[in-house]
Amino acid sequence: MKPVSVDREKCKVCGLCVEECGRGGVSIEDGRLLISGFRCMECGHCVAICPNDALSTEQGVPPDIIRSLIPPPELAENFLRARRSQRHYEKREIEPEVVERLIDLARYAPSGKNAQPFEFVALRTPEARRAFTEACYERMRQAQRKLHNPVWRWFVGTFFDKRVQDPEVRRSLDRAMRRREAGMDPLFFSAPLILFVHAPAIGATPKDDCCYALYHAVLLAETLGLGSCINGNSEVLIRHFPQLLEPLGIPRGHRVYACATFGYPKHRFARLVFRRAPVVEWL
Ligand SMILES: Cc1cc2nc3c(=O)[nH]c(=O)nc-3n(C[C@H](O)[C@H](O)[C@H](O)COP(=O)(O)O)c2cc1C
Repeated sequence: MKPVSVDREKCKVCGLCVEECGRGGVSIEDGRLLISGFRCMECGHCVAICPNDALSTEQGVPPDIIRSLIPPPELAENFLRARRSQRHYEKREIEPEVVERLIDLARYAPSGKNAQPFEFVALRTPEARRAFTEACYERMRQAQRKLHNPVWRWFVGTFFDKRVQDPEVRRSLDRAMRRREAGMDPLFFSAPLILFVHAPAIGATPKDDCCYALYHAVLLAETLGLGSCINGNSEVLIRHFPQLLEPLGIPRGHRVYACATFGYPKHRFARLVFRRAPVVEWL
């Protein structure tokens, strides 16, 4: 948020905000702090760094950071390593205020040029989830029929997207559809919440912005006893079938850049997992 006023009694003209901004949004002239708003990204750094609460925004002075609540490294490391993708959920709805809390925190994620372009669609009622899930499977059936047509595969593979010629794409779609016919939901795992994050496609870094925002929600969910699973499959499906944007109320010109399912986990993981050793070039 933009700085809008300086409390002259509180401002010691220390220059901290000017140094932090570095863009000329605030400056010191004739011994007074001035707000020019020049190239202001509305990042709020000038207001947040002031030790004397001298700068305020239209929403006032933001709350202090409670340093004692910042987790120590061992706690943060254990927390981040303990997060797992959760694909089995209890048949229990997530309380609306909890969903709001996830979305509320998501918007504090960093974004390129502080554009905050992310918008959200929360599929949380059983009817909305059912209707959208069925629409997705209908499109997957359509894709399956096309992928089994060798002429279509040759044409699209030669001129547009050679991935359609990869037999593994066909096999994994066949597997998913067999599971669907058996009454399962391999796309959304019958989760009580499917959260889509979308943004205008023309921004500077819309995909990154949406992914960071979603990951904020994913991490907060863990602390609220929820499990989650990032859902790249639905993002790909929507990209191939943009008609799916309409039932989500997503305007043309926007793209879905991130999606995740959320729910109370049916099972609890007992252990951490191993990962590959890091590949690093130490220079
Ligand atoms: C960009 C991205 C897309 C993903 N898409 C899916 C997906 O469509 N379906 C799924 O079951 N898991 C999906 N995952 C979850 C990964 O499979 C999972 O993160 C990985 O296996 C590691 O497991 P962990 O998250 O429990 O550590 C996705 C993860 C990422 C980062």
